[in-house]
Amino acid sequence: MKRALLLAGTASYSLSPAMHNAAFAALGLHARYDALGLSEADLPATLELLRGPDFYGANVTLPHKLAVLPLLDALSDAAQVVGAVNTIVNRDGVLEGHNTDASGFLRALKEDGGYDPAGREVVMLGAGGSARAVAYALLRAGVERLSVHNRTPEKAQALSAAFSPYGVIEAVADELLATRVERSALLVNTTSVGLAGEQEGWSPLPEGALPRELVCDIIYRPARTKLLSDAAAGGLGVQNGLPMLVYQGAEAFALWTGARAPVTVMKEAAEAALAD
Ligand code: ATR
Repeated sequence: MKRALLLAGTASYSLSPAMHNAAFAALGLHARYDALGLSEADLPATLELLRGPDFYGANVTLPHKLAVLPLLDALSDAAQVVGAVNTIVNRDGVLEGHNTDASGFLRALKEDGGYDPAGREVVMLGAGGSARAVAYALLRAGVERLSVHNRTPEKAQALSAAFSPYGVIEAVADELLATRVERSALLVNTTSVGLAGEQEGWSPLPEGALPRELVCDIIYRPARTKLLSDAAAGGLGVQNGLPMLVYQGAEAFALWTGARAPVTVMKEAAEAALAD
């Protein structure tokens, strides 16, 4: 039996076990995916375990996406530039770190949304960990310009400076946000504003400001945030965070097994687990 783990914080809940176990079953692979809640102090011993022949590798989620970096043998370009690892691949005892949040985001946009951001003006809200993966993906995809807005402007400035080698990227101040959004084709929200719980029902955008083509929210709970319902009411295309979740999983699955991931099976399993 082959195994994959999710290295998570102690109290995390995840859709990934449902998604990957359904994919293993669909392909007839004798394999199992388990979530493991652990503290940072447990990471070195757990990574040693992953070098064993039974292990495909692991996914890594909050709060360990940064802490695993120095414990790995090699990093993909995306993992290095984003500065975070969400997928570890065990290649005969050698541990590689990858970031499939970036590739998963882009694949979701293209394959699920039918949208190619190349040559487009884009606004991204937020400057945290997810924003780094999204910025990397969009700049690599060849957007014309990526404007970054964040509640704490210093973080948007730091992110823009860090990613400027990869394309045209700039931080946008509060007072310029609405006009920049209206001029853009695509808007991506990576902040937690609108998330189920305390932040539900709020939009991260100034009232009435919408881009021209598509609004993408990386939140999937609720399935339709205030931002997405405002965008749909304005006649725009909308995409929530579930396709990104599915495709980051599909990319990890392909890295581990060498097989093409059954994306539809994974999406249905994630939706079923979410509805539970
Ligand atoms: P993740 O890994 O999901 O990106 P994160 O790194 O904690 O999580 O980033 C959260 C993002 O949501 C940040 O951009 C944060 O803004 P700050 O940098 O100013 O903290 C943004 N965010 C969270 N709550 C917010 C709120 N109430 N209003 C606006 N932005 C908010």
